[in-house]
Amino acid sequence: MEILHISAECYPVAKAGGLGDVVGALPKYQNKLGHTARVVMPMYRTKFLNENEWDVDFKGHHHLGHRHFDYTIIKERTNKLGFDLYLVDIYGLLDRERIYGYDDDNERFIAFQIAVVDWLNHWAYKPDIVHCHDHQAGLVPFMMKYCYDFLYSLGSVKTILTIHNAEYQGWLGMDKKYYIPSFDSWKHGMLEWKNNINALASGIKCSDKVTTVSPSYLEELRHSARGLENLFEYERGKCLGILNGIDTDVWNPATDTYITQNFSLEDVARGKEENKQILCDQFNLDVTKPLIVFIGRLVGEKAADVLPDSILASIYSTQKNVCFLILGSGEGDVEWRLNNLVAEFPGNYNVMIGYNEKLSHQMYAGADFLLMPSRVEPCGLNQMYAMRYGTVPMVRSTGGLRDTVIDMGDEGGYGIRFIHASVGDIIHSVNRAVDVFKERDKLDLMRSRMMQVDNSWDSSAKHYLEVYQSL
Ligand code: ADP
Ligand code: GLC
Repeated sequence: MEILHISAECYPVAKAGGLGDVVGALPKYQNKLGHTARVVMPMYRTKFLNENEWDVDFKGHHHLGHRHFDYTIIKERTNKLGFDLYLVDIYGLLDRERIYGYDDDNERFIAFQIAVVDWLNHWAYKPDIVHCHDHQAGLVPFMMKYCYDFLYSLGSVKTILTIHNAEYQGWLGMDKKYYIPSFDSWKHGMLEWKNNINALASGIKCSDKVTTVSPSYLEELRHSARGLENLFEYERGKCLGILNGIDTDVWNPATDTYITQNFSLEDVARGKEENKQILCDQFNLDVTKPLIVFIGRLVGEKAADVLPDSILASIYSTQKNVCFLILGSGEGDVEWRLNNLVAEFPGNYNVMIGYNEKLSHQMYAGADFLLMPSRVEPCGLNQMYAMRYGTVPMVRSTGGLRDTVIDMGDEGGYGIRFIHASVGDIIHSVNRAVDVFKERDKLDLMRSRMMQVDNSWDSSAKHYLEVYQSL
């Protein structure tokens, strides 16, 4: 089968979070299964772009409303990532360093989608499946089915939309409707939700299948989806949840080149100790105490706002018998509060504001526990990475966290689960962590259990192929 993935992120080209990890891995596993999966994404000005060789694949032009644009598609020459990778360049819109965060993000991603669909329209080869990821590719199914420029050659190609995060939907005023290449005005409703253009809603309405990145998240969306609840209820027949996998080539403590000391199940205790020592030296933390880390975007979804108070209260409640290390960036207020705590708890707490891939690996390897109090977690990859590196996940019972972590009090368990993203629940979990840290045998058993859980892409990649086949 020929599959084309359309996404705003793909690791290691450009990654802001888990979307990048998924799109950097899933196509590789689909190819291993004997299919041809490719990825197309915007050509941001990244290190990966400069360090690799490219061929021009296609040059075309289209328009975003009244604005004419030329676009160029380039292809990576060596199949370095295990799949064909195409980048779309649009002068003045996509030629930026960052992925998101510009005032004209909506325009940038709509132009990106128009260019991709126009390119597909000119391509001799047509994929069997166009697989769109999140709202930045959510308008593609509409364009393929209803825009006059494309519908004759692309209208029958099957489309699937994977929702990694429904918090972000790509809202745009109806006055911007003219951005979309001309379409049958009767189909206007397929673009909108609550009198606005809503790229995610349009993708849900127009694609042939919709998947979420965990089964529990799909259930939750029926009750809480930032205004799209009724749509999920109405379209439930074509929706299903497929749990993400992790790329075990990248996330393998035995071969990971980012970490100081490689280890595997056989020597996990020693390997983790040595990696922890490095972290504790670097961040002035007491290595004899349990080390709890948080890695992620410092935003409300991740409940980052409860971290400062929870850390403060937990350190007091355990009589300073615990250490915390935070890596992340996001809301200014949270960053400020987290920074301020450093002076208060030398030896027990530290923070690194920013994005640092290498440090994140070292933290998964060296930490004893990983805290994820997320209010919303469609899947969550951190907890699966932590498990692979023998780090006990402490998670709020929601979305993909609920689907992947078994509490240590339950049969076969290896993690700590709690219900509320609150200071009280976090302190309680920290106290459970501190207790289990003293019981070496129990901790060893939990590590051994979690490291043997198979979260690799093998089975999820097959699941996606079954969905494609059904179309
Ligand atoms: P989300 O995509 O919602 O941010 P996920 O758990 O799916 O959450 O994936 C987050 C990914 O981003 C993981 O690979 C995690 O290690 C990485 N990550 C998040 N924040 C940082 C950071 N500050 N530095 C390095 N890696 C980070
Ligand atoms: C999103 C979600 C996260 C998920 C990731 C990859 O960013 O917030 O939970 O793991 O996408 O699907």
